[in-house]
Amino acid sequence: DAASKIVLEEPKDVPEAKKIIIEDSTQYREKRVVVNGWVHRMRNQKGIIFIVLRDGTGYLQSVFTGKVCEKASYDFINLGPESTIALYGVIKELPEGKSAPGNHELVVDYYKVLHAAPTGEEAFTNRLNAEAEPSYLLDQRHLVIRGETASAVLKVRARVLRAMRDTFEDLRMTEVTPPCMVQTQVEGGATLFGFNYYGQNAYLTQSSQLYLEAALPALGNVYCVQESFRAEKSLTRRHLSEFTHVEAEMPFLNFQEYLELLEEFICQTIDRVLDDPVAAPLIQQLNPGFEKPSRPFMRLPYEDAIKYLNEHNILTPEGEHHKFGDDIAEAAERKMTDQINRPIFLTHFPVEIKSFYMKRVDDHPRLTESVDCLMPNVGEIVGGSMRIFDMEELLAAYKREGIDPSPYYWFTEQRKYGTTEHGGFGLGLERFLAWMCNRYTVRECCLFPRFTERCKP
Ligand code: 4AD
Repeated sequence: DAASKIVLEEPKDVPEAKKIIIEDSTQYREKRVVVNGWVHRMRNQKGIIFIVLRDGTGYLQSVFTGKVCEKASYDFINLGPESTIALYGVIKELPEGKSAPGNHELVVDYYKVLHAAPTGEEAFTNRLNAEAEPSYLLDQRHLVIRGETASAVLKVRARVLRAMRDTFEDLRMTEVTPPCMVQTQVEGGATLFGFNYYGQNAYLTQSSQLYLEAALPALGNVYCVQESFRAEKSLTRRHLSEFTHVEAEMPFLNFQEYLELLEEFICQTIDRVLDDPVAAPLIQQLNPGFEKPSRPFMRLPYEDAIKYLNEHNILTPEGEHHKFGDDIAEAAERKMTDQINRPIFLTHFPVEIKSFYMKRVDDHPRLTESVDCLMPNVGEIVGGSMRIFDMEELLAAYKREGIDPSPYYWFTEQRKYGTTEHGGFGLGLERFLAWMCNRYTVRECCLFPRFTERCKP
């Protein structure tokens, strides 16, 4: 028919198009541009075609009219959602009463189809059937991440990481990159992933803490952003087998100063994210009404938490009242945190439920100088403590926990050459995001989640 015979050429009497990304479109209003992207949505109504183009930096409504529309109506018959296309034209502010992302639209004068994705049965929109089994959607994670919600979380993730690094810089800390392949455990043998390292036993790291401690005398305050690995046996909504661990370690400070620094780190990070022009609107989209928590965070010693649980009839998984020395299980912790409904620093855990390296309270040797930061809807997002800095005390701790000290010689020796009080923490990035973006599970807060029995795609 007639449309098939239309020849569309790039107009000659207009300025050359500047190649831009959608994030920059506001500053290019009234200029002629070319934007490459994926067809996020398309509709054809009464001789006008609208395409919402997506390039990963944003969404841009584009409008086709006149001859371009006539030609496109023919060309786009077999152009499915997610096709790649280059659109040429001028970005115009929208008139009063109309709305689109950025409050403007690209008036297309020329286009090139780069790749036509399928229509019909095979169309992208038919691949993500909402009624499918949850495991099906996990298998399709490579497609799911193109969606508005999933990609918003990933973008917030990138900005949060940046905010954390900026905060660490502000707090005068130096970034290091510890190894992932190690021969020491940090958080207990039960969750170690082991592998054969040239004939020797080695593990995927559970935490970079020991390496951060070793870096203190070289660099002072240090931090890292590193993957940690845990062979968690149970499927919960907040446990991954691989997670991004944001860890820090500081020398020459006491437990009070340590807690203040941790609070400062969390709050400065939140302030930065809420000031970030990219992250802030995404957080309002994902978690409408989100407000930064008020300071200071509640300080709740473990012993008082046990009292709280009993007074509020929050029971152990076995249906019993809590007693001193019990681990506070995930469900109970969440219930308490949701009731209190503000960030909590849960402090001073008993020695027997915490890791071998934790420093004890000077006049209460059953208690440790330890802290978990709990957030409503998620529970624990940070774990940390002051560390044993006395050599003999550390050797006794290895013994108590049945740990062979020989692979730890380099960690132990820190207590020989200039030891000092020091402390650090580890924050689970996916849990922090689950809290800030109000996601049901940490699995939504990483690119391709790894958890019990899932190592694909
Ligand atoms: O409380 P954890 O086990 O503490 C440590 O690993 C310390 N060595 C960190 C340190 O002091 N440098 O883990 C710290 C945080 C938890 O609060 C949680 O946010 C996250 O790491 N985390 C996990 N996140 C997702 N999936 C898992 N399986 C996680 N295990 C811990």
